[in-house]
Amino acid sequence: MKKLEIETQIEKASTLPSAFYKIRPSFEKSQEYIFARTWQYVADASVVNKPMDTYPFTFLKNVLDEPLVFTKDKENQMHCLSNVCTHRGKIVVEEAKKQRMLSCMYHGRCFRLDGSFKSMPEFDKVEGFPSPKDDLTKIPFKEWAGMLFVALEPTVDFDAVFGPMQERLSWLPLDKLTFHEPSSQDYMVNANWALYCDNYLEGFHIPFVHPALNEALAFEEYDYELFDYGNLQLGVAKEGEPCFDIPPSSPDYGKNIYAYYYWIFPNLMFNFYPWGLSLNVVQPLAYDKTLVRFRTYLYEGKNIEDWSVNQLHQTEMEDEAVVESVQFGIQSRYYKSGRFSPTMEKGVHHFHRLVAQFMNTE
Ligand code: FES
Ligand SMILES: [Fe+2]
Repeated sequence: MKKLEIETQIEKASTLPSAFYKIRPSFEKSQEYIFARTWQYVADASVVNKPMDTYPFTFLKNVLDEPLVFTKDKENQMHCLSNVCTHRGKIVVEEAKKQRMLSCMYHGRCFRLDGSFKSMPEFDKVEGFPSPKDDLTKIPFKEWAGMLFVALEPTVDFDAVFGPMQERLSWLPLDKLTFHEPSSQDYMVNANWALYCDNYLEGFHIPFVHPALNEALAFEEYDYELFDYGNLQLGVAKEGEPCFDIPPSSPDYGKNIYAYYYWIFPNLMFNFYPWGLSLNVVQPLAYDKTLVRFRTYLYEGKNIEDWSVNQLHQTEMEDEAVVESVQFGIQSRYYKSGRFSPTMEKGVHHFHRLVAQFMNTE
């Protein structure tokens, strides 16, 4: 596979080659080189609310397929563990439930809720047993704003990745976000995950693709800011449209901000509105199939009915249609790659540079 090269100067750069999106080997390489190394959203933290709760899940189903389990021990400490028994490899926790310890139902090996080995029948004569290898591996995780994030082999600390967003929004009541399940839904998109991200990372297409959203946003004031592992698009509201009430402590004081659109490499989109957060998790299923999970979180005292969540659905339908059209278009023998608008496609360029950086790092 050819090394990916993206010029650092946007005026000179070309986009990722179409082969990156349309051939299986580059998708397979991206699983290890991008997805095993970065922070992924798993679930709302309420899945392990109380001591002795356990929550098994598959990390990036269909792609990395890593069986993991969240547990909360008796001291209320949370753990994220490999969910594969260290004896012969059975899945230890098959369903979310309360339990004092984790027992494998194949030959009876038991683990404490922190993953350490506890007991095993018929193993008295085994030499050098138990050893640390018999514990369940601990997996790096982070609980933030009531959400759970996991990384298998993170190359960058959670705080280094999420810090700029946390700092900028420190005035928002993010510790009191509540997950609103009825308005959360999943979308299946017939396109490569990175095409979905490309589209998200520019507001260039808003006047062409989203007529209703375009009515609310002041296009001339739309702005982009880049940080190490993510970027921000600032949507400024037109006169009379809903916007944040921003305190003087924020660098955005005085601006009529309609939304903060934060993207975290490689596939997390945090869209903050005056009513709460719409989180979009762009989960690859295959090189040409992507599951986009919309998760709605509300600030305390905000009511979902008061806000136009319907508009998010409409915008999503419009985005999916263009992204699927691009998926078809890039199959063409005549399309190899394109160029960037230096004013409107900074975020896409930033994404392509990060993709190249991760894919080229052994
Ligand atoms: S595989 Fe778990 S006890 Fe044998
Ligand atoms: Fe869009």
